[in-house]
Amino acid sequence: MDLPNNSSSLKPVTLLAIESSCDETAAAVIRSSNSNEKTFDLLSNVIATQSVHQKYGGVVPELASRAHQQYIVPVVKEALQVANVTKSMLNAIAFTQGPGLLGSLLVGSSFAKSLAFALDIPLVGVHHMKAHILAHFIEPPYPKFPFLCLTVSGGHTQIVIVRDYLEMEVIGQTLDDAAGEAFDKAAKLLGLPYPGGPLIDQMAQLGNAAAFAFPETNIPGLDYSFSGIKTAFMNFLKNNEQKNPDFAKDHLPDICASIQHTLVNMLVGKLEQAIDQTNITEVAIAGGVSANSGLRKVLQTNASNYGWNLYIPKLAYCTDNAAMIAAAGFFQYIMGKRATLAVSPQPRMPFRES
Ligand code: KG4
Ligand code: ZN
Repeated sequence: MDLPNNSSSLKPVTLLAIESSCDETAAAVIRSSNSNEKTFDLLSNVIATQSVHQKYGGVVPELASRAHQQYIVPVVKEALQVANVTKSMLNAIAFTQGPGLLGSLLVGSSFAKSLAFALDIPLVGVHHMKAHILAHFIEPPYPKFPFLCLTVSGGHTQIVIVRDYLEMEVIGQTLDDAAGEAFDKAAKLLGLPYPGGPLIDQMAQLGNAAAFAFPETNIPGLDYSFSGIKTAFMNFLKNNEQKNPDFAKDHLPDICASIQHTLVNMLVGKLEQAIDQTNITEVAIAGGVSANSGLRKVLQTNASNYGWNLYIPKLAYCTDNAAMIAAAGFFQYIMGKRATLAVSPQPRMPFRES
């Protein structure tokens, strides 16, 4: 990446980042490592997870924005305190501009805009999914450009060619449900609390992945579709529960292991196709579902069999966090990419133009 000449970017940067796209209120502070490098140190990373949604089996947008209102000041205060940074030491503020829930995004963006206005410092609007990818630059080892990133979260499933910090191209994506959504919906049908993805993962470790078979949807090209497997899973449970009403309870680990195996197979299949097609063997995964132990294991085995360099983020940087918003904000800031104070959140923020 070429740094712009005569940019303020060459001065050390202390940046506050705010994430509020869904149901985590998060703030982080980073400082550039030294004036010439494109690296930074993470000084704090604070997350308040909203537990209010659990009893509803999914995120309730209205409750999410109220909880963000409640948490945002204490979370930012704590992030500054842990970083040992005062407001006057900040050079820039980054925030999640989208995609996400409008009411949730509004809280973070209004807060970030007000603080940037009060401190008279630059504001940077960040694309949440690009930030998931740039989480790979929070700590070494850093992937080398160009790399492929399978980005799998509760709302998105994408295969992205990452050519540089801010130069990315989506080459495959889901046409309907996201992978995380498929995990969460399967969990809900099994009576597990929200978010069910991590619970399926836990139960799967005790079960037999070959116990039950589900039809994998394989559409042409690098795109995914997860809506068919959701319906197949629903019918599978319904049919078996007609014979044994306790079927799900009696076979929980085997069902979890089998559905996880199928979802992971689908994810890995298209990623391998993308590797073959592009000849790029620097491979990364990002987003909440990249925390899945089954997915990690299969990719680790394949990486050593096929000679890929595989990058898997720390668990704390897979699910939503503000350190990744800080990473994306940092690269945008040093490239001179700023938002104006008239910026507004974009719930469906496009990947390409951002
Ligand atoms: O990236 P993320 O924290 O939020 C979004 O941007 O959506 O991803 C949340 C998703 C949820 O669907 C959650 O169930 C899933 O990530 N998830 C997992 C695991 N940990 C989180 N899915 C499968 N296995 C896990 N270990
Ligand atoms: Zn996310």
